[in-house]
Amino acid sequence: MEHTIVIFGASGDLTKRKLLPALYELFRKGRLPRDTRIVGFARSPFSHENWRDLLGEHVAQYTGTHFSGELWGQFAPNVFYHRGDVLDVDDVNRLGNYLRELEEGRPHVRMYYLSLSPEFYEPTVVHLGAAGMASEQEAPRRLVIEKPFGRALDSARRLNDKVHQVFSEGQIYRIDHYLGKETVSNVLVLRFANTIFEPLWNRRYVDHVQITAAEDLPVGRRAAFYESAGILRDMFQNHLLQLLTLTAMEPPSRVSADDIRDEKVKVLRAVRRLTAEDVAVQTVRGQYRRYRDEPNVPPGSEAATFGVVKLYVDNWRWQGVPFYLRSGKAMSCRTTQIVIQFREPPHMMFEGGPRRIHEANRLVLQIQPAEGIQIHFQTKVPDAGMKMRLTDLDFNFREKFAGEMPEAYERLLLDVMMGDPSLFARADEVELAWSIIDPIQAVWDAGGPPQLELYEAGGWGPPYSEDWMHRQGRTWFNVCPVLS
Ligand code: BG6
Repeated sequence: MEHTIVIFGASGDLTKRKLLPALYELFRKGRLPRDTRIVGFARSPFSHENWRDLLGEHVAQYTGTHFSGELWGQFAPNVFYHRGDVLDVDDVNRLGNYLRELEEGRPHVRMYYLSLSPEFYEPTVVHLGAAGMASEQEAPRRLVIEKPFGRALDSARRLNDKVHQVFSEGQIYRIDHYLGKETVSNVLVLRFANTIFEPLWNRRYVDHVQITAAEDLPVGRRAAFYESAGILRDMFQNHLLQLLTLTAMEPPSRVSADDIRDEKVKVLRAVRRLTAEDVAVQTVRGQYRRYRDEPNVPPGSEAATFGVVKLYVDNWRWQGVPFYLRSGKAMSCRTTQIVIQFREPPHMMFEGGPRRIHEANRLVLQIQPAEGIQIHFQTKVPDAGMKMRLTDLDFNFREKFAGEMPEAYERLLLDVMMGDPSLFARADEVELAWSIIDPIQAVWDAGGPPQLELYEAGGWGPPYSEDWMHRQGRTWFNVCPVLS
């Protein structure tokens, strides 16, 4: 069957920076189903030609050396633009008629991609329903919703209810682009396609887990968004909790969307919810010092641009093992990593041998950039008596596999077209994630404790975060990846 992709809110940044470059890449690699039509829908006036020209420039910019004018010339005729307003049901009806014309009466699998400001999700879905565009009588109709899905548990539930009145859960694809990253999928491969890691992957051998998503860029132009979202909603509710579930979940018996998501949901259910007293001692909130000088930030803003949350997963495998989640803007470098810190050997027979937890074995899953895996272990320094040093085995994806790492959106868009929701968040998953974040957000919004810690840009967050970790007898793994 042929495919039609409709991008709602097509004039926004996501279309130019991610969606169209990803679709072009799929086309270049011969993976985009033949004759896939891409229709942009937004309020700005564009002719098909203006639209194609504009996108051509952006795709060239974002795909770099992969861009070929000749290929674009073959791809662009299947890109169209239809002007309209999602808030006007007549416009959505007209879009429906336009799609039917474009599809020339043949049944097409349709993807409706909501690349809109979140307040437009609900009316758009209602209008798609009213226009009969959700009905699967002729062919599959799939709805893709970008993050944020709600801004707390109650709004996420309301949105789920509204969307379910029009689309069934099987038609809905809630995006968390982290799930489309190759290294994130590889967490499951590492754990469940190998025998050597899984026996150690539990409270008996693991002291704690650190999951960090650091970014060197400041908030900049997105300050207005950060004022209402903050780091918890922006990074923890979705990306960091997704990484936690993949790290902590039990092996599903099959690789089916629901088997995988069932296991992830079990982890989210098992995460101990924090009370206000817990939030005071198990979280750190920070803001980089220059944040208040960013445009649209009110003086004295308390929006968090950095956060640490310590969580426990209450089940047999993980009882008592802390999962430290940390994310921040304006940090020393861009790095996303999962660090599995193993326990120290039960008895150190070498005199002068390592005795501190950060000198014990460690597995680092470098999610991005310099995607790879490192195992850290003690080695005898040659010709130096029994002196030991922590050394590592270093695996790097780009060195091992020729070619570049694809953008997450390539995988995700293709999966929607193929009807595979494995890498998308299910309704219960999103709601459970909010139920973990909400109590923390409530305490932070009320001014804490913990109090807001200011930090200088270019480091690893507030110095308080380092002290806090030391008081737990542990050390953050503050290492920037080496880019080759
Ligand atoms: C987005 C957040 O979801 O993820 C941004 O809204 C963040 O604040 C981005 O910068 C990070 O994505 P990536 O793929 O660059 O790690």
